[in-house]
Amino acid sequence: MSGSSTKNGGALSVYLGHIVDPVDDDHYRDIPLGALVVSEKGQIEAVGKWADLCAQYSNTAQIVDCGRKLIMPGMIDMHIHLPQVTQIGKSGDTLLAWLEKYIFPAEARFSELSHAEKIATWFFDELACNGTTLAVVFSTIHKEATDAAFSIAAEKGMRAIMGKVMMDRNAPASLLEDRKKSLSESEQLAGKWHGFDRGRLLYAFTPRFAITATDELLHECGKIWQSSPGTYMHTHLSESLEEVKKVASLFPNSRSYLDVYDQSGLVAERSVFAHSIHLDDQDLQVMHKKKCALAHCPSSNFFLKSGVFPIDKVKALGVEFGLGSDVAAGPQMSLFGVMKDANFIQPQTWISPRELFYRATKGGAKALQLDDKLGSLEAGKEADFIIVDPTSKNACPMDILKHDTDDILSALVFLGDDRMIDATYIRGRPVFKRTKEKEAARSS
Ligand code: GUN
Ligand code: ZN
Repeated sequence: MSGSSTKNGGALSVYLGHIVDPVDDDHYRDIPLGALVVSEKGQIEAVGKWADLCAQYSNTAQIVDCGRKLIMPGMIDMHIHLPQVTQIGKSGDTLLAWLEKYIFPAEARFSELSHAEKIATWFFDELACNGTTLAVVFSTIHKEATDAAFSIAAEKGMRAIMGKVMMDRNAPASLLEDRKKSLSESEQLAGKWHGFDRGRLLYAFTPRFAITATDELLHECGKIWQSSPGTYMHTHLSESLEEVKKVASLFPNSRSYLDVYDQSGLVAERSVFAHSIHLDDQDLQVMHKKKCALAHCPSSNFFLKSGVFPIDKVKALGVEFGLGSDVAAGPQMSLFGVMKDANFIQPQTWISPRELFYRATKGGAKALQLDDKLGSLEAGKEADFIIVDPTSKNACPMDILKHDTDDILSALVFLGDDRMIDATYIRGRPVFKRTKEKEAARSS
């Protein structure tokens, strides 16, 4: 076979740069003069030292030389709210009051389709320029707005696991749904979008949290989720003590908050639980046994003063977890900032940059059971990657690229933000490339 094409004849692109690729929570592959070979279909063909690969690929493949910039897997945001981006930075209350004051009114506006489309367009563009190549997304209760968000993600080449929110009690009248309608609209959206473009878009049944759901809604959601193969279930769990107390009073027959979901058939593979702070060992053992995914959202936990994620216990009991921005309770989309907060919020435990890098990439993919396709740069996986320039931020004046790779990772975690992202690729296709014009347009 000639070196320039894939087995089925498509053209190849080779990205040259410093490849940093997560292996596990304490190891990464470090290839300073590396090459990432990507097929026309957006699959990774090969990864390695350019010196080893250039004889095979240098002649006719398209070469993109990124110099000393980093080539890394795209980041995975395991929990984010699309409609809340208009409310970023509005604080002053803990969870339940914050929802009432800022979030429910903002979500009610999504009954207006033109508003929903405008915000969804901004949202997916902003994910791309933050280097996020997969997001697990809460939409609103509105079917049309959610359908539009899927269409926009589809057209932009973005990757998402998303769903229409379900609520049938304890919310403002404008956001309360008829239970049957909520269930049937969710099923329709799942039928239309789950698996779109070979799995680039996936559906998550999305009951908001136990407080805004009747027992019937949760049970029926459990049934339709289990009869919709491969779909996800995405909700909040044990974020604040006030919330936990209210759930206990609404569901007196459940042993714990997790048990409310468990009794409804919502605790299983591909369930994604955001937060999960105030849990006991038994809950964590159940989550481990049932292979649930946990989205740790430290920036949000700081912002709403929700508590400290029990990271040592979660790891000791083997629950798979990654990171979520939880915008707008989290005030930033950049997963670099979320990584920093994951370290800062722990009063005793030092979480290394290596682990944080893993959690925002391969660890998230593993928790979501997508690590056979996503999360790291390995031959056969999909080519979701970012080009990162750690020198592009003012706060980093020294030539950080001359330092050890551990120091570079540390600079990304503690100093990084969207300004370090030069380009974002999903399935080998650019969804963001930094240009001076784009920069000006964003800040105007
Ligand atoms: N719990 C229920 N809804 C929400 C939400 O929108 N944000 C956060 N952080 N927690 C929630
Ligand atoms: Zn949330």
